[in-house]
Amino acid sequence: CGIVGYIGGQPAAPILVEGLARLEYRGYDSAGIGVLTSGKPKVLRTVGRVRDLEASLPKRLTGTVGIGHTRWATHGPASEENAHPHASADGRILLVHNGILDNATALRERLTAEGVTLHSDTDTEVLAHLVAAAEGDSLEEQVLAALRQVTGTYAIAVASADQPDRVVVARNGSPLVLGIGEHEMFVASDVAALVRHTSQVVHLDEGELATVTRDGFHTFTADATSTTKTPETIDVEAEQWERGGHEHFMHKEMHEQPETLQRMLSGRLDDRFATARLDGLQLEPRELRAFRRVKVLGCGSAYYVGQMGASMIEDLARIPADAEAASEFRYRNPIIEPDTLYVAVSQSGETADTLFAVREIQRKGGRVVGLVNVVGSSIARECDGGVYLHAGPEVAVASTKALTHMGIGFALLAVALGRVRDLSFADGQRIINGLKQIPDQVGEILEQEDAIATVAKRIADAQSMFFVGRVRGYPVAREGAQKLKEISYRHAEAYQTSELKHGPLALISPELPTVAIVPDDELLDRNLGACHEIAARRGPLVVVTHEGVELGDLRGDRIDVPRNEPELDPLLLTIPLQLLAYHAALALGHDIDKPRNLAKSVTVE
Ligand code: G6P
Repeated sequence: CGIVGYIGGQPAAPILVEGLARLEYRGYDSAGIGVLTSGKPKVLRTVGRVRDLEASLPKRLTGTVGIGHTRWATHGPASEENAHPHASADGRILLVHNGILDNATALRERLTAEGVTLHSDTDTEVLAHLVAAAEGDSLEEQVLAALRQVTGTYAIAVASADQPDRVVVARNGSPLVLGIGEHEMFVASDVAALVRHTSQVVHLDEGELATVTRDGFHTFTADATSTTKTPETIDVEAEQWERGGHEHFMHKEMHEQPETLQRMLSGRLDDRFATARLDGLQLEPRELRAFRRVKVLGCGSAYYVGQMGASMIEDLARIPADAEAASEFRYRNPIIEPDTLYVAVSQSGETADTLFAVREIQRKGGRVVGLVNVVGSSIARECDGGVYLHAGPEVAVASTKALTHMGIGFALLAVALGRVRDLSFADGQRIINGLKQIPDQVGEILEQEDAIATVAKRIADAQSMFFVGRVRGYPVAREGAQKLKEISYRHAEAYQTSELKHGPLALISPELPTVAIVPDDELLDRNLGACHEIAARRGPLVVVTHEGVELGDLRGDRIDVPRNEPELDPLLLTIPLQLLAYHAALALGHDIDKPRNLAKSVTVE
C-alpha cells in the first residue's frame, strides 16, 4: 500500500492524488484521500485506480491539510468501505495505514461490545476509533495511546479536525519518509511521491513517530523521547518516474538496461587486480576469505536471480552457495552460522518477508549484506553493508532492469569472493571482460524485439506452457515463467529439462508450448536431446540459444543471444524472456504495468 500526506499553503487534494499516482505500483485496488477543509474533514474514496479517484474530485476542495492512500487488499476485499482513509465515529479523526495489525479481530470485538459501529472489514478502522477514544491533550498523545493497544506492523498518517495544524505519522515495520518544502511538508511511503516537490527528505526509523506541521517536523519515539534527524538530499529526478514516450513503464525499463547497466559497472571493475571493487560491502579481504558458505535470500523474481547468483558464486568462488525464498526462511528455524555470508536481494528494499529474514539472521549473529536498488530503503539500511544496484526507479510491477542489475551484482560479488580465494587472475580478467560486454549485448537482444514479439503473439494463445532449463539455465526458466504468469495470466511452469522425462513429458501436446533454455555449454547435446523428445510428441518449441548453435531438423522458433562467458550466460538468456512476457501480455490486452492482484512492493508478510 502507499501513503501520502501534505500540509502547507496549497490545496492538498491535487498534491495527494498526484503523489498516490506515483505510489500506485505499491497497490492499486482502491484509493482515497481525506482533506481537512476549514477544520471539517472530507473523505473521498473509490474502488479501482487513482485516476478514478481524480475524476471524482469535487472542484471546491480547498483544504491545505490531508492524507491519502492506495491499497493492496489484505483484510477484506477491495471495496469503497474498505478503502482508506478510515474515520472515527464522529468523522473527526482520519487515518491511513500500511501494514497488518495482528490483534485486529480482538480489538474489533471489543469496540463492537462497547457500542462502536464498524463500517469496514479492515484492521485499520479500529485504529481510527482507538485514536478518537484515547485520552490525551494532543493528537500525538492520542496516537501514542492508541498504538500501545495494537500489535503488528504499521505505517500510519493521522489527521484530526480538532488539530488541523498537524499530521501525525508513525512507523513500525512499514516505511515512511518526510519531504521538506518551503512552509510545507510532505509525507510518503517512498520518495517516488516526493521528488516533484523536494529533494530534502528524512527517513523515519523503526519505532519512530513524527509530528509534521507547515513549518517543519518533530520526531520522537513511543515513550515520547525526541530524536534528532538530519535531512538527506536525494539525487533522483522527477522524469525518472515518467514513461518518456514508451507505452508502458515495463517497456521503458527493459530498454533502459544498456545504459543503467553501464552505470552500475562504472568504477566497480578493477583491471589491475582482475577483481570487482565493492566498497559498500564493508568487508576486508580477510573477512571475505573466511566465509565458508553463502546463502542468498529474496522473494519472487529476486529469489530466482538469487539462484542464478548462488551458482555464479559456486562457479567462480568455489564456496557452497544456495538461494532460498526469504518468505519461508524465517519460519523453519534456520541454522545461522557465523562463517556464512548472508545476502538479501531486493529491488524495493522494503519486501517485508526479506526484511524479516534479515532481522532473524542479525538476531542470531549472522552477517548479512544487501543487494538493493532503492537507496535508503529499509533493507539497505538494516544490512551490515551491501551493493547498490543503481538501476534507477523501477515502476512496472514486473521487474526487468532491476533483476539484470541483481545478476550483475552477484557476478561482481562472485569475482570479489573468488579473487581472494582460488579464482585465477586470468579467470578474474575473463569475467571482468565479459561483464564489460554485457550492456551492449543486452542492447543487441533488445533490437530483436519485433521478432520476439511475433513469437510471443503465437504462444500467447496457449493456456499453459513449460519453461525448461538445466543447471545455470534453470533459474532462467523459473524467472521466465514467473514473468509470463505475472503479466499475461497464462499458466507457466518451470522445470529442469532433465526432469521432464520423469513425469511432465506426459503433458506435452500441440497445445502446450515449451520455452527451452539451450545455451552453448557443456549440456548442449543433452538439452537438444530433450528438445527432440518434446518435438517428437508434437510439442511446440521456442528455443532460446546462442548465435551459431546448430538446431538441425528441430522445428520451432529460435531466439539467439550473443556469446559471453558461460558463468554470465543467465544474465543474457533472461532478456528475451522479458520481451516474450511483455509482448504476450500486450497481445492479450492486459494492464502490463499493474497486473491484477499484485503489487510491486509487498510490505506485509
Ligand atoms: C513482489 C513483486 C515481485 C517481486 C517481489 C520481490 O512480490 O510482485 O515482482 O519480485 O515482490 O520484490 P523486491 O522489491 O524485494 O525485489
